[in-house]
Amino acid sequence: MTRFPNTTGVGLRLPHLTEMVATRPPAGWLEVHPENIVANPHAAELLIELSGGYPISLHTVGISIGSAIGIDRSHLKRIRALADRIDSVFVSGHLAWSTYENEYLNDLLPLPYNEETLQLVAAHVHEVQDTLGRPYLIENPARYVGFRSSTMTETEFLAEIVQRTGCRLLCDISNVVVSAHNMGYDAHRYIDEFPADAISELHLGGYTPEDDVLIDTHGAPIAERSWDLYAYALRRFGPKPTMIEWDNNLPPLTALLAEATRSDEVAHANAC
Ligand SMILES: [Fe+2]
Repeated sequence: MTRFPNTTGVGLRLPHLTEMVATRPPAGWLEVHPENIVANPHAAELLIELSGGYPISLHTVGISIGSAIGIDRSHLKRIRALADRIDSVFVSGHLAWSTYENEYLNDLLPLPYNEETLQLVAAHVHEVQDTLGRPYLIENPARYVGFRSSTMTETEFLAEIVQRTGCRLLCDISNVVVSAHNMGYDAHRYIDEFPADAISELHLGGYTPEDDVLIDTHGAPIAERSWDLYAYALRRFGPKPTMIEWDNNLPPLTALLAEATRSDEVAHANAC
């Protein structure tokens, strides 16, 4: 198994794939959405080639662990085959739901945090981990609404899922900034309460203000508020593999690599 470095990687999207193979720039590691790869044999070939030179992680957007109708096993098996082929150390996804009956909703929708949801999500995480043959990393979502039926905080919910399933966590620092702003809670307190021992990875991504709401667009440079919270989180969590996410308004690859360099500098100055 590839050793995963405590450095910063970049999200590798299809428009940058050929350039990445041709130029092989220095990058700590790479993360891809497997849904963009499994149905694209040429992209899969290029990714397999890159896996000889870079550690690669898979970040799923199509495993709906919060869906009441269950998990798509055939999709999971395709992701398992790719993960095995590129020796992916991490496979991660979101604490959200995105399917209804046979429809894929192309969005990460929120869940109420209570015992009923815990049982559903825990059962699905067990199923995912059994099929993948490796721990699954669950990411805290960007939130815009809450539920009256929630009986626990998000960090309490995540801690309980870790306890019940043995899964790992991905803490998206920018999602904490977005959710704390939109939901009216304190981002630093959220970091204080996050189950630090279960963290395997951090994310940093750009958001877009729209009226009084922050939207998790992954379509802008990382905001200063996220950099500040990242420094705070590193002082609490210690060094962690970090990933720069940029999906929309995709800039040149060099811009992503520059954000990764800044992230490594922040980590060097703050993580003990
Ligand atoms: Fe993320």
